[in-house]
Amino acid sequence: MSNSSPAFWAVIPAAGVGARMAADRPKQYLQLGGRSILEHSLGCFLDHPGLKGLVVSLAFDDPFWPSLQCAADPRIARVDGGRERADSVLNALLYLHAQGAGDDDWVLVHDAARPNLSREDLDKLLAELADDPVGGLLAVPARDTLKRVDKNGRAVETVDRSLIWQAYTPQMFRLGALHRALADSLVADANITDESSAIEWAGQAPRLIEGRSDNIKVTRPEDLEWLRLRWTTSRR
Ligand code: C5P
Repeated sequence: MSNSSPAFWAVIPAAGVGARMAADRPKQYLQLGGRSILEHSLGCFLDHPGLKGLVVSLAFDDPFWPSLQCAADPRIARVDGGRERADSVLNALLYLHAQGAGDDDWVLVHDAARPNLSREDLDKLLAELADDPVGGLLAVPARDTLKRVDKNGRAVETVDRSLIWQAYTPQMFRLGALHRALADSLVADANITDESSAIEWAGQAPRLIEGRSDNIKVTRPEDLEWLRLRWTTSRR
């Protein structure tokens, strides 16, 4: 592990609607402990001394962002999101290039709806990957027994979980390599669901860094209920 933590850009794709939350607004704008989920997701980066700047990708007609306190933070730039998450990230990378960021600069991409990233995990990711030729991501080994199901929802196979990890964020890659991998995989119409899958598609093997399992992405209403409960008990 390197002793020095590298400087980095942060990219937060926040142009999704989060339909599974069935809420009146995109999930990143739901409240958690007096602030929006998105503000919590940005907070860990804004508090870090290695941050060079942060780009947030938003729906072009997003009415919620301007009312957040951090919208006026000069370290944060806003770009338009795209059709898929990969398009939203790509727009942010194009912006960074236009601002003079270098191909070898590190970029950390983090989900807008992952508000419980710890400073300890962020520092671990930065330190472990500082000298890595490819980059990587926070991840958690699968802990439950895994089933493959048929189209009727019946188990047809128990999958060996020893080689299965859940991909979390941040995901940390070099700006130039990530830009090329995302752009090329989008042109090829590959199935890209995170930055790592684009780098894998380009033939590289990102490193998985084990992180805390409570760095969850808010996906369902019960995820937010769990975080709210934790917030009130841990911050008393
Ligand atoms: O929907 P899901 O939670 O998988 O989205 C992951 C992240 O990608 C979220 O932060 C979401 O706001 C973002 N996203 C985006 N642009 C899209 C779709 C999703 O920025 N077109």
